This record gives sequence, structure tokens and C-alpha cells, in this order.
Amino acid sequence: KYEKIWLIFGVTCLVVFLSIVGVSAFTNDHHSPAGGIQQIDPEKVRETAPFNEPGVKQLDEDTYQATIIAMAFGYEPQDLKVPAGKEIIFKVASTDVVHSFTIDNTNVNMMVVPGQVTTKSYTFDKPGKYLILCNEYCGTGHHYMFTEIEVT
Ligand code: CUA
Repeated sequence: KYEKIWLIFGVTCLVVFLSIVGVSAFTNDHHSPAGGIQQIDPEKVRETAPFNEPGVKQLDEDTYQATIIAMAFGYEPQDLKVPAGKEIIFKVASTDVVHSFTIDNTNVNMMVVPGQVTTKSYTFDKPGKYLILCNEYCGTGHHYMFTEIEVT
């Protein structure tokens, strides 16, 4: 008699335990992390909006969004053109390792960690050509990782 009660108790515990594990695994999958960091699968950057259409897009009269993919060893797209005096929201994601997105002569200097969307807003005062470069050592081609942004 006692054995049967213990068996039922054991099985019940097991079922409860498994369902807790199952539920927490499920909720973890669908949980968006606190703190506003947008996560992205590095292997699916190109399929994930807005990175499926990298480049500059006008959001409203005073705001533009520049979506850029960082990878070993370059940035995509290569031809970036934005207006001066307007807010530019940069969104950068890496498809491989840690890079940086650094615009020379500005305070834009952000680390691009794979798995995260890095966002920074910046307004260029003066038109001209600005150098974009990688400040994080990312491999043998690190020194060749740069591009230009044209501010008009
Ligand atoms: Cu990318 Cu250094």
C-alpha cells in the first residue's frame, strides 16, 4: 500500500517538475529582455527588418534612419548619403564578430556586438565626407574595415 502512494507521489512530482521546466523554457523563448536592448540572430541579420533593406531611409521631415550591417571586413552598404542638420538614427548589427561603428570627428563610437542591434542618434552640423571605421580588433582584415559617409 505504502509503495503505491510513494509511486503516485513520485510520478506527480516528476510531472510537476517537467511542466515547470517546459513552461520556463517556453517563456524564455518569447521573453524580450528588459533594458531596451534589441536582440537579433547574427545569422539572420540580412533577413531581419530593417537589415533586410540596409541603407538610408527618411522617417519623417527631420529624421532619417541609416541601417548598416557590419561584417569582417566592411560595412554594408558602402554608399551612405545623409543630410546635414537632420537627426540620423544609426542602426548597426554584426553578422559575425565584435566590430565598432566609429565616425571620425564625431562622438559616434559604438561597439557592435553580434546578437544585438546597436542604435545611436546623431546630427551632422557640417556637410562633407566623414570616415567610418572599425575600432575593435576583429581579425586579419581589421585595418581595411572602413567606409565613408557623405553629408550633404
Ligand atoms: Cu571590424 Cu575591426
